[in-house]
Amino acid sequence: MTKINIAIDGLSGCGKSSTAKAVAKSLHYKFIDTGAMYRAVTLYFLQHNVDLSNHDQVVNALSDIQIDFEFNQESQKNETILNQQNVEQEIRKMYVSEMVSPVSAIKEVRVAMVAQQQAMGRDKGVVMDGRDIGSVVFPDAELKVFMTASTEVRAKRRQAELAAKGEEVALNEIIANLESRDHQDSTRAESPLIKVDDAIEIDTSDLRFEDQVQKVLNLANNRIEKAE
Ligand code: DC
Repeated sequence: MTKINIAIDGLSGCGKSSTAKAVAKSLHYKFIDTGAMYRAVTLYFLQHNVDLSNHDQVVNALSDIQIDFEFNQESQKNETILNQQNVEQEIRKMYVSEMVSPVSAIKEVRVAMVAQQQAMGRDKGVVMDGRDIGSVVFPDAELKVFMTASTEVRAKRRQAELAAKGEEVALNEIIANLESRDHQDSTRAESPLIKVDDAIEIDTSDLRFEDQVQKVLNLANNRIEKAE
């Protein structure tokens, strides 16, 4: 069967990754969470006190970073590996969320990540979620989805996710982080978050998770048929 690439972009916390993961599982495609890659770079920069305004330090640090994904049978999750170390839990913590937007706005960081992401999608059969997938990484993706949801819905979902991992964070702190990231991600000079003309918008505020996955699957099956 012909394989396609599926780009899922949108605001922070509107369910892109979980939707992309479920769609990939159903189609037997690879799922790539590009936010996890920017989070892993941020964690490395924090651990090594990289000065974001120092070009040489940033470039040197990037040359020392290797990011992989490893499927964990137990959690049934693709986990993020930074230089052979599993950092899946660490990169989701608030202190990383607070620094990830400035790190992902750095041109050299984006160039390095986009090159890796394009290599991962060369043979098609990839569902990738992020901010610039339909616009920069796979401008020729056969299906582009742009997901949105109200800030309150997104914050409540994020709060529940963090609580499930034992991190209790006040709702207003999460709302402030989401709004600040939305603003930084949409207004940065390098590949800002935008809805490209050929993306299909799905507002997930009032959708059940299974319904949003089904919507994307219906669109994907339609595009796969067209591609055959
Ligand atoms: O999807 P997420 O919330 O885990 O992403 C974390 C941050 O990474 C987000 O605030 C912006 C950045 N990001 C990006 O700039 N480009 C992408 N393709 C994916 C994420």
